[in-house]
Amino acid sequence: MSGIRPTGFLHLGNYFGAVRNYVRMQETYTCYFMVADLHALTTLKETKELKGHVRRVLAENIACGLDPDKVALYCQSHVPETAELYLFLNMLAYVGELEKTPTFKDKVRLQPQNVNAGLLTYPVLQAADILLHRATYVPVGKDQEQHLEIARNYVNRFNQRYGEAVFPEPYAFNFGEELAKVPSLDGAGKMSKSENQMATLYLADDDETIRKKISKAKTESGSGISVKTNGGEREVLGGKPESVANLFQLLKLVSTEDVLQKFESDYQAGTIRYGDMKKELAEGMVKFISPIRERAEAIRNDEPYLRKVMEQGAAKARASAAITLQLAKDAIGLNYF
Ligand code: TRP
Repeated sequence: MSGIRPTGFLHLGNYFGAVRNYVRMQETYTCYFMVADLHALTTLKETKELKGHVRRVLAENIACGLDPDKVALYCQSHVPETAELYLFLNMLAYVGELEKTPTFKDKVRLQPQNVNAGLLTYPVLQAADILLHRATYVPVGKDQEQHLEIARNYVNRFNQRYGEAVFPEPYAFNFGEELAKVPSLDGAGKMSKSENQMATLYLADDDETIRKKISKAKTESGSGISVKTNGGEREVLGGKPESVANLFQLLKLVSTEDVLQKFESDYQAGTIRYGDMKKELAEGMVKFISPIRERAEAIRNDEPYLRKVMEQGAAKARASAAITLQLAKDAIGLNYF
């Protein structure tokens, strides 16, 4: 089970860090992938934008290979059982624990004028999403580790308080490999939604935009060993400056071993032509991104199909949720006949 935030526009980092993992999981496991539209309400100012975001994120995930016939792909708000379980879990949620959660503290800093209770109980809602299907594997990044720990606490408190082991403990999941980190085109950190858009490749970027972003990426005419300053520490990046190392990492994602080797040895020999390398990278990215973009575009415009996907997903999720809720109510003692 995992939740996808409806923030619109997926980028290459989302693809290699998350979506690819979902697509692999669907072959082996019973999967529930949910668009977290209720979670979005904790921060979203303009809720009229939800419709476009939700449709886009669904279309882009399907275009990347997520198959709505193999998994339950649904919107959180279409499964009201989530809210019911959330209510039960609130009785197991300690305010002190929630106040200490780093994501909550971040949000308090970011929106001091809107510290709503939904922000505080964000991890409770997330635990409800997961426990609703009694899920054990949750494909998420490192930033969600705290939320999973909180979910495990509720599992154990529930079992202790009500004397029945209804829920298994959920754990973060990936296929035992280091998830591919996707560096930004400017060499400063990872690709991200909010930061420099010129340094991030979106799955919706057209071919010309992809080429332009890559051709504008800066490279350093490298001289010997380069260093970067990182919080006062000097760190050598495999002998390459960051704004070169990132291009190599990106090329690795979309090119062949041969091509990569050629540029690597050119680099070592000091004869590398960054123009050629960028051209190779741009064409590789265009070839990778354009079919996804075109599929996503077609899906986004096919309203009846998207509606069918959402209805079918909600039906599967609600069937699973109904069983869990019955078990939970029985365990709590909310059954009088
Ligand atoms: N909090 C998650 C994020 O920010 C999204 C999310 C909501 C989620 N519900 C979930 C992730 C349940 C995993 C399981 O990305």
